[in-house]
Amino acid sequence: MSEMEALFEYPAAARRRTITAFQAEMDAGLRGETSSLKMLPAFVDNPTGKEKGEFLALDLGGSNYRILRVSLPGDGRLPDVTSRKFSLSMEETTRDAGTLFGALARSIKSFAAGLEGAASRPLGFTFSFPIRQHSIDRGELILWTKGWSAAGVVGRDVVGLLNEALARESVGGVRVVSLDNDTTGTQMARAYLDPACDIGCILGTGTNICYRERADRIRKPLGSYAKAAMIVNMESGGFDKDLPRNRFDEKLDAESENPGAQWEEKMVSGKYLGELVRLAVAERTGQGLMFGGRLPDIFAARERFGSERVCAVKEDETPEAEKVRTILIELGVRDASSDDAAALRKIAWAVSRRAARIAAAVLAAAVTWIDPVLERDHTIAVDGSVFEKHPGFAADIDAAFRDILGPRAARVRTALTHDGSGLGAAVIAAAAGNK
Ligand code: GLC
Repeated sequence: MSEMEALFEYPAAARRRTITAFQAEMDAGLRGETSSLKMLPAFVDNPTGKEKGEFLALDLGGSNYRILRVSLPGDGRLPDVTSRKFSLSMEETTRDAGTLFGALARSIKSFAAGLEGAASRPLGFTFSFPIRQHSIDRGELILWTKGWSAAGVVGRDVVGLLNEALARESVGGVRVVSLDNDTTGTQMARAYLDPACDIGCILGTGTNICYRERADRIRKPLGSYAKAAMIVNMESGGFDKDLPRNRFDEKLDAESENPGAQWEEKMVSGKYLGELVRLAVAERTGQGLMFGGRLPDIFAARERFGSERVCAVKEDETPEAEKVRTILIELGVRDASSDDAAALRKIAWAVSRRAARIAAAVLAAAVTWIDPVLERDHTIAVDGSVFEKHPGFAADIDAAFRDILGPRAARVRTALTHDGSGLGAAVIAAAAGNK
């Protein structure tokens, strides 16, 4: 087993190399040079906390999405939020623009119909894919990530597509006034009440980081934007330098929908953690070291063993991994030995601890880019199921911060900002109205 665990090791010296490489990519990306970090200007700065009014928000980042009505008090009190969950079918995420945006417009219609006055509110749109923005309310999809592939969206302005669909569905009273990424929304939601928040991060199905940058360091066209600072969406999941890749990462990438892309995301985020565990289990079983050499069905096909199962396996703290055996039985694996169960648990921890360490390294790179000797306090607003639900993930990040930053790590705090991206979209919509 130690050979397997060694494959997922990521020692401190390697993490330092990652940080140096990450900052070099940030620098190149900000200059508009070739970089695996897109460094996309978000055309919005942190809020003042005084933003107020009533807004709608569409928070779309996965097939389960939310529509919200948000009342921003603007006086330091918590916003009031009413929200409803919706979900898209596989067909809606993979067919074409009309199918996807039509479904979104119909759900906005049904949500607004139930709420007095909602059908005439400005709407903030969180669209959690790489977008090249030109202003706060216009931006084109650069490429699909997370397995989506609806035709006719790449290269098009997604605000325009949503407004057209709203008009087709006769919901013309709702105007889309702002566009943002989920990282930006999460940062805005936390910064609305906490001025020390200058980084936003998602550790969920996908992963990404945004941060508050000095506008004069962004060497890209910023149009009429006049503020001194702007949030930049790094698309950090695309980072591909100095990462501790092994043969499982290579295999996962080769078999994925987007080979060659999103390397960091494929090592860190929930869409892939289960798959990495599965590939490691399949190899050991092939070598006759697990499950008597016969690969159980649950590990035989791609993406059946998901991140939530990795979570469940890690939750078992019994010495003989009895709960893992119960989980395996529920998954149709009746004849697993306690050695099999314990090996599965070790692999789950090795994969996810490496993920937490990579997440911590790139966050440490971002925070020391903003403030090299950590003179100030920094809150990192984080959302996503991996951060929220995986046992030990947040603690592993904190431990890695201490390894990397030493005592200065006390200046850096991660704060779970659950469902922040919807609320943040409303804060951005308010800011867009006051520019
Ligand atoms: C993917 C998207 C990115 C998003 C992240 C988290 O990496 O490309 O825009 O922020 O997932 O949802």
